This record gives sequence, C-alpha cells and structure tokens, in this order.
Amino acid sequence: MGFPPISSLSFILFLFHFHSTISSSHLCAPDQSLSLLQFKESFSINSSASELCHHPKTESWKEGTDCCLWDGVTCDPKTGHVTGLDLACSMLYGTLHPNSTLFSLHHLQKLDLSDNDFKSSRISSRFGQLSNLTHLNLNCSVFAGQVPSEISQLSKLVSLDLSDNEDPSLEPISFDKLVRNLTKLRELDLSEVNMSLVTPNSLMNLSSSLSSLSLLDCGLQGKFPGNIFLLPNLKSLDLSYNKGLTGTFPSSNLSNVLSLLGLSNTRISVYLENDLISNLKSLEYMSLRNCNIIRLDLVSLGNLTQLTSLDLSSNNFSGQIPSSLGNLVNLSNLDLSNNQLVGPIHSQLNTLSNLKYLYLSNNLFDGTIPSFLFALPYLQYLDLHDNNLIGNISELQHDLLRLLDLSNNHLHGSIPSSIFKQEQLTALILASNSKLTGEISSSICKLRFLQVLDLSNNNFSGSMPLCLGNFSNMLSVLHLGMNNLQGTIPSTFSNDNSLEYLNLNGNELEGKISPSIINCTMLEFLHLGNNKIEDTFPCFLETLPQLEILVLKSNKLQGFVKGPIAYNSFSKLRIFDISDNNFSGPLPTGYFNSLEAMMTSDQNLIYMEAGNYYSYFYSIEMTWKGVKTKFMKIQSTIRVLDLSNNNFKGEIPKVIGKLKALHQLNLSHNSLTGHIQSSLENLTNLESLDLSSNLLTGGIPTQLGGLTFLAILNLSHNQLEGPIPSGEQFNTFDASSFEGNLGLCGFQVPKKCYGDEAPSLLPPSFDEGDDSTLFGEGFGWKVVAMGYGCGFVFGVATGYIVFRTKKPSWFLRMVEDKWNLKNRKTKKNAGRYGARRN
Ligand SMILES: *[C@@H]1O[C@H](CO)[C@@H](O)[C@H](O)[C@H]1NC(C)=O
Ligand SMILES: *[C@@H]1O[C@H](CO)[C@@H](O)[C@H](O)[C@H]1NC(C)=O
Ligand SMILES: *[C@@H]1O[C@H](CO)[C@@H](O)[C@H](O)[C@H]1NC(C)=O
Ligand SMILES: *[C@@H]1O[C@H](CO)[C@@H](O)[C@H](O)[C@H]1NC(C)=O
Ligand SMILES: *[C@@H]1O[C@H](CO)[C@@H](O)[C@H](O)[C@H]1NC(C)=O
Ligand SMILES: *[C@@H]1O[C@H](CO)[C@@H](O)[C@H](O)[C@H]1NC(C)=O
Ligand SMILES: *[C@@H]1O[C@H](CO)[C@@H](O)[C@H](O)[C@H]1NC(C)=O
Ligand SMILES: *[C@@H]1O[C@H](CO)[C@@H](O)[C@H](O)[C@H]1NC(C)=O
Ligand SMILES: *[C@@H]1O[C@H](CO)[C@@H](O)[C@H](O)[C@H]1NC(C)=O
Ligand SMILES: *[C@@H]1O[C@H](CO)[C@@H](O)[C@H](O)[C@H]1NC(C)=O
Ligand SMILES: *[C@@H]1O[C@H](CO)[C@@H](O)[C@H](O)[C@H]1NC(C)=O
Ligand SMILES: *[C@@H]1O[C@H](CO)[C@@H](O)[C@H](O)[C@H]1NC(C)=O
Repeated sequence: MGFPPISSLSFILFLFHFHSTISSSHLCAPDQSLSLLQFKESFSINSSASELCHHPKTESWKEGTDCCLWDGVTCDPKTGHVTGLDLACSMLYGTLHPNSTLFSLHHLQKLDLSDNDFKSSRISSRFGQLSNLTHLNLNCSVFAGQVPSEISQLSKLVSLDLSDNEDPSLEPISFDKLVRNLTKLRELDLSEVNMSLVTPNSLMNLSSSLSSLSLLDCGLQGKFPGNIFLLPNLKSLDLSYNKGLTGTFPSSNLSNVLSLLGLSNTRISVYLENDLISNLKSLEYMSLRNCNIIRLDLVSLGNLTQLTSLDLSSNNFSGQIPSSLGNLVNLSNLDLSNNQLVGPIHSQLNTLSNLKYLYLSNNLFDGTIPSFLFALPYLQYLDLHDNNLIGNISELQHDLLRLLDLSNNHLHGSIPSSIFKQEQLTALILASNSKLTGEISSSICKLRFLQVLDLSNNNFSGSMPLCLGNFSNMLSVLHLGMNNLQGTIPSTFSNDNSLEYLNLNGNELEGKISPSIINCTMLEFLHLGNNKIEDTFPCFLETLPQLEILVLKSNKLQGFVKGPIAYNSFSKLRIFDISDNNFSGPLPTGYFNSLEAMMTSDQNLIYMEAGNYYSYFYSIEMTWKGVKTKFMKIQSTIRVLDLSNNNFKGEIPKVIGKLKALHQLNLSHNSLTGHIQSSLENLTNLESLDLSSNLLTGGIPTQLGGLTFLAILNLSHNQLEGPIPSGEQFNTFDASSFEGNLGLCGFQVPKKCYGDEAPSLLPPSFDEGDDSTLFGEGFGWKVVAMGYGCGFVFGVATGYIVFRTKKPSWFLRMVEDKWNLKNRKTKKNAGRYGARRN
C-alpha cells in the first residue's frame, strides 16, 4: 500500500516538532509536576482552613502546563527542579501523610505551608530528608504531636517556624540536636511548641547567627537564661507567656542590637532603670505586660527614643503618667492599661504624634479628655474605659478611628458629630457614663463597618434610628439598653445581618416586637425587658437557631404562651425570662419539652461573648438568689427559667422535671394550683426555687430536701399544709420561706406540729402529674440527711468574676503582628488565647 500520504507524514512531523517545543519550554521536570499534582489532590480547598489571607494557589495547578509557572512554585532556572513552594494561606484542608509526594521534592530550599489546616497531622520525620531546605515555615497550620528529631538534619536551615500549632512537643534531646546542628539559623520561632522539659540555659547554645528567637507560650520553666545575650546578633527576643520563667533580666552585657524584647506574662524580674535602659538603646518594641517590674526609673525610660511600641500594662503602676514618655516621639503603640495611674492625662503626651494605638483603660485617670488626643493625626485605637474622666467628648480632628471605647467614665454631653465621619470605625463603646444625652442620630448608620455599638447605661433619648436594623452587615453587638429611648423597635432587620447580641433593655420602647428579628439568625442574646412593649408572646423567636438568652421581662405582653410551632424550638436557651408581664393560661408545657439546653448541664466554663474580632462579653442584670445582681460576664453553664409575675394558671406539669440543668426556677406570683410537682426533685442543680404567691395546695415533698445546692427556697403565700420536712437542707431555710401558708407546721413557723411529728401520718399529697401514680412510689417522709449543702454553691457561683475586658483580642494580635509575632489561630485555641488576655 506504499507510504502514508504526505499529509499524514507532515502531521506526524508536526506533532514531533510540537512535542519537542513543549519539552524545551517546559522547565518543570515531569516527575516534579506529578508529585505536585498528587500533593494537590490529597487536600481539599476549604476557606475556613486559612485565616489570615486566602490564596488557593493550587487551583492554578493544571496538568500539562509548566509547573514552574504555577502559583507558589519556584524552580531552578537551569535544572527545572522545584526549589521553592509557598503555599501559605492556600486553604488546604486534609492530613499530610508521611507518604506524601511532597517529600519527593528533594531539591526544595524554601517551603512555606503556613496558615492551612492539616487536621492535627504529625510533623513527619521525612521533613528531615529535604536536606537543602533553608526556610521551613509550618506556622499556624494545625500540626500536632512530637517535633521529630530529624528536623535537626536540616543543617542548612536559616529560618525555622513551627509556631502556633496544636501544642506539638519538643523533647530536650531533639532540641539539643537542633541547637548543635542548625548552625546557620537566623530565625527560630517555636511559639506554642511544648518545651516544658527543655532547660532555658540550652538556648545559649543556639547558633551565633541567631537574630530572632520567639518562644511564646512554650511552657519554659526555670531561670531566665541571661547568657542568651552571648548570641551576638540577637535582635529580637520574645519569651512572653512562659509563666514558669523566673530569674532576673540582666542589666549589663546585653546584645546592643536588641530591638525587640517581650517578657509579658512571665515571672522574670526586671529592674527597668538606667543601667538596663542604657543597654537597650536600639529597642523598638518592648512588651512587659504583667511581668515582674521591680523598679522603674521613669526618667531613664524617656531615653528609649527608638521605641515604637511600649506595653507596660497590668503592672500595678501608680502615680501620674511620667512626663518622660513625651520623649518617645516614635511611639505608635502605647499601652498603660490595667495600672493604678492617677491624675489627668498629661498634655506631655501631645508630642507623641505618631500614636496609632493608645490604651489607658482601667486606671484612675480623672479630669477631662485632653483635646490633643482627638487631634492625633494617626490615631486608630483609643481606649480609655474604666477611669474617672469627666466633661464632654470633643470633636475629632481626623477620621481614622477604628476603635473608641470611653465606657465607664463620667462623661456628659452628646455624641460629637465627627464620630459619624469615622468611616473605618468598628467599635464604638460609650457605655456607662450615665450622663451622655441627646438623640442617637441616624448618621450613625454611616458607620458601615461597625461591629460593636454599645451606648448603654446613659441618658440617650428620642427614637431608635430605624436604620439600625440593617446599616452594617458586620454589626454583631447592638447594646442600647438602659437609656430613655422611645418609639418602636426597628422592623428592618435584614437577612444578611450578623447580630449576635441585641440589648434594648430598660427603655421606653412601645409597640410590637418586630418579626424581622427572625432575620437575625446568628442572634444569641436578646433582651427587650423593661420596656412598654404591647404584644402577644413572640413565638416566631423560637426559630432563632442560636438563641441562648431571651429576656422579655417587665413589658405589657399578654395572652397564652403556646408553642412550640417548630422543631428544635428554643433548644439552645439557657436563660428564659418572661417574668412580670400579663401572660395567662397554662404554663408553656410545650416549650418545657424542647428547652434542650436546660436539660443538660454544660461543663465548659466559658464566658459568653460575641464577635470575631472583639471579645465582647455578654453581661446581664437579673435577680439571682433573691438579689438583683449585675453579671459583667455570663458563664455558659448558667440555666434560668423565670415565668414569675404573670397570670399563669393550672398545675405545674411533670415535664418540668426534665429541665435538670436549671439553676434557678421562678414561678412565683401566678395563679398556679395543685400540688408541688414531685418531679422537681430531679432538678438537682437548682440553687433557687421560688413558687411563692400561688394557690398551691398539699404538703411539701420531702424530696426537695435532696436538692443539695438549694440556697433559696420560697414557698410562701400558698395554701400548703402539713409539716415542713425536717432534714438539714430544710433547716437552712427560715420562716420567710414558708410564711403565709396557714396549714404548715414546723419550728420555722408559728404553728408547731403535734407531738414528735410522725410524718407518715400525713396523707401523701403531692402531685405526680400522672393520676395512676398520684399516691404511688416516690413519696414518703424520708429524712434527708445526705449532701447537706448549706446553700453553698459551687460551679456556677464561683465562676462569676465581675471583671470587664473589652480589649479586642485582635488588638493583642495586632500588636504582636507588628512585632512580627504570631497570630493565634482562634479556631484551634480560643480558650488558650482567651487565657492570654489579662
Ligand atoms: C472545612 O474546615 C473546617 C475546619 O477548618 C471543618 O470543620 C469543615 O468540616 C471543613 N469542611 C469540609 C467540607 O471539609
Ligand atoms: C498514604 O498513607 C495514608 C495513611 O497511611 C493512606 O490512607 C494513603 O492511601 C497513602 N497514600 C498513598 C498515595 O500511598
Ligand atoms: C543541594 O544543594 C547542593 C549545593 O547547592 C547541590 O549541589 C545539590 O545538588 C542539592 N541537592 C539537591 C537534592 O538538590
Ligand atoms: C547534622 O547534620 C548533618 C548534615 O546534614 C547530618 O548528617 C547529621 O545527621 C546531623 N546530626 C544530627 C544530630 O541530626
Ligand atoms: C507539655 O509537656 C509536659 C511534659 O510532657 C506535660 O506535662 C504538659 O501537660 C504539656 N503541656 C501542655 C500545655 O500540653
Ligand atoms: C552547650 O554546648 C556545650 C558544648 O557543646 C556543652 O558542653 C554544654 O553542656 C551546652 N550547654 C547547654 C546548657 O546545653
Ligand atoms: C559582663 O561581662 C563581664 C566581662 O565579660 C563579666 O566580667 C561580668 O561578670 C558580666 N556581667 C554579668 C552580669 O554577667
Ligand atoms: C538618660 O536620661 C537621663 C535624663 O534624661 C540622663 O541623666 C541619663 O544620663 C540618660 N542615660 C543615658 C544612658 O543616656
Ligand atoms: C497591686 O497593688 C495592690 C495594692 O497596692 C495589691 O493589693 C495587689 O496585690 C497588686 N497586684 C499585683 C498583681 O501586684
Ligand atoms: C428579612 O430580610 C429580607 C431582606 O433582607 C426582607 O425582605 C424580609 O422581609 C425580612 N423578613 C422579615 C420577617 O421581616
Ligand atoms: C426523675 O428522673 C428519673 C431518671 O431520669 C426518672 O426515672 C424519674 O421518673 C424522674 N422522676 C420524676 C418524679 O419525674
Ligand atoms: C507565618 O510566618 C510568616 C513568615 O514568617 C509570616 O509572614 C506569617 O504572618 C506567619 N503566619 C502566622 C499565621 O503566624
């Protein structure tokens, strides 16, 4: 058949030609390309896997294209070997197995896998085979387990960063090897690696090239390794959050190139006086928050003129702000919060024209806020909360503010209009000044980036700007409680809002509760109490999936509380307070069946808070064990049901016994009838039980004596009869618990029981809620001697610390950022991070 036709031959030639062009222009070696693609395939892309930035670089990796041109990939221009892989923030999600093809990229010199989520993968010993690595960055990527000693084979490493993972641990022997072999190391960051067994002294043997050492929160124990300054090039040293570090910071023989020093939250003693300060001339960042400053020479402090960041917070300093601080003209961050500083805020500070962050909260400053503060040209964060400042808030001269917190002072006057021009403002907190007045201008809705707006406990009047329902879809906290606001609740909550905390308590609001609130699907806290709202029970709220606290007390709500209408209604509610309204009909038994959070105790001792960036702690005022109490923080364990002061009728249903986690149950001042429900004996966490001022009949069930945490019992003003059970828990309650029940007898009340009371003579008379067992088991006058609680409460009460921090957690981060320290991946370590806040 002869030769193929000429056209197909040229086609083959063309193909051959084409192929050779590709291979010559393809730098990337095919095996490397394959390895990368297999690596890519072993992870999913998940936007919550990265926090700081989001660059899904592997998405550009396509088979058949030159891998040297892929995002994040660098090749040697001569050999085509992959020498650099930068996959920081690439949203990678999945396990990094030891058999990963990553480890066949032998020519790698720089590898950055930071800010991904490797799901608690171990740091594989095979990293040790990438022997040409000079840079290895695994920070903030959810690695766990032991740091393999094979890392010490990477003797060319210049930079090693294993920080901010899930507490991987580093054995002393591995650290020793690392110290001995990594002789080129210039940057070492092992923050949050558990080094509790490593002796601080071994740090001195680190490479003499070392210029930056960050060992935050590594569990280091023992004396500060003073000889660390034998490392001649050390510029940056951060040992913060090693609470076990003691000893004294040396005041001589320091490396005179030190520019960053972090000793926050350690127990290292610092004599901050001339000797030391004269050795710290090049210092730019100094963080001595909550450490052991033994002496502070304020005059010399002013010699550190290179400082751009100074944190001396939480050190119990007293006296006035030292005027020498005015010399530190390069300061961009000054934090003196949580001390005992007094007097006016000095005008000496007006030389600090580079300030971006100024934190003076929790001191004893008085006088007015000096107007130069509001004229600082770069100021972004101004936090003066919890002082004794008086006077007006002056107009701001610039518009760069991101945070303004002036709460808990004695300021008066109205909100200056220049605040509404601060377009970057994310938090405006003017709470608890009592004297701030005027209307809340609808201009506030220009602040489109606002996340926290707290104007509570002031004297603001007028109506709520209607736009507040939907002006910023980032708003997570809206607290306008305890003012004199009138009009209606905005009906404009749109479905893209992020409200978590809505508090309009204690105003003069009228009208109905807007159904548009159900658009706030992230709402956890809703307090509309102490207003003049006239409505029926807003059962639509039951569909709010995250709602944990609902308070509607002291309004003009009425009608039956029927429900639930939906599945999972109010299933997360921890506090449900509809007291002091006009509700009628039977108790809302249907809801009792769905209040799931009240059925299970929560052992997690965390404080309820809102916001991604700001730690805004929920606070609430309520009657706690008979006393009106303001909780500055709310522990997530708390469970309260308050239906008192309404017009509920009928019997207490048996299902109430399901709400086992309740700490406080108040059904007082209603028209409840029947016996005291025996299932109440199952509410073993109860600390306060108030059934007073109802129409309850029958005897007091002895079983109530088994409620060993019960500190408050109020059964007064009913129609109860028979003997008050004896038993130690009962003996702790006095007459006021029982008064107004003419049929009761016992030593607490005027009527004594006949003889030595033989309780069994009394007819069993309390309600089992189920006729067949009405007189059945479970009833008897058994003496309750076990677990005498003396009204003492542990768990719940001990946790309430009246303490207020509104410093955003990201402030710390940001300062740390500026220090080139690390961000804390909150998704892993929220609790730990929380512990970092003072
Ligand atoms: C995405 O990552 C988060 C945690 O980072 C995880 O909880 C979630 O299940 C992941 N989603 C998918 C689809 O893998
Ligand atoms: C790598 O190892 C993991 C777990 O041992 C296994 O599930 C996976 O299939 C392996 N992958 C390859 C490519 O061998
Ligand atoms: C490692 O680096 C050395 C020196 O630059 C080079 O000769 C060697 O080929 C590299 N090894 C690999 C596996 O790339
Ligand atoms: C130190 O590095 C060399 C060269 O990379 C390596 O051969 C040796 O095993 C390493 N030693 C330790 C203790 O890791
Ligand atoms: C660190 O390791 C020590 C010793 O292995 C251990 O006792 C300690 O609990 C660990 N610390 C943390 C925070 O995991
Ligand atoms: C530092 O290294 C020297 C020499 O290798 C060794 O003798 C010494 O014990 C090491 N010091 C510490 C604290 O590890
Ligand atoms: C500082 O160095 C000198 C000379 O090297 C030495 O004599 C002195 O003891 C050192 N001081 C301290 C506090 O280590
Ligand atoms: C620091 O400042 C004080 C007063 O301003 C001065 O007396 C002292 O000599 C200075 N110290 C150094 C080391 O410059
Ligand atoms: C701060 O000072 C007060 C009174 O001077 C003292 O009671 C308190 O213990 C100090 N706090 C700290 C952390 O040193
Ligand atoms: C929820 O918001 C959307 C617009 O965002 C609005 O159209 C709708 O009416 C709102 N729902 C209610 C119940 O108001
Ligand atoms: C108390 O709880 C137990 C266990 O859940 C249950 O069996 C019992 O019936 C309950 N008692 C009453 C009176 O409801
Ligand atoms: C990880 O390290 C890189 C390089 O040092 C740094 O830029 C980045 O901010 C760090 N990321 C985190 C999450 O700490």
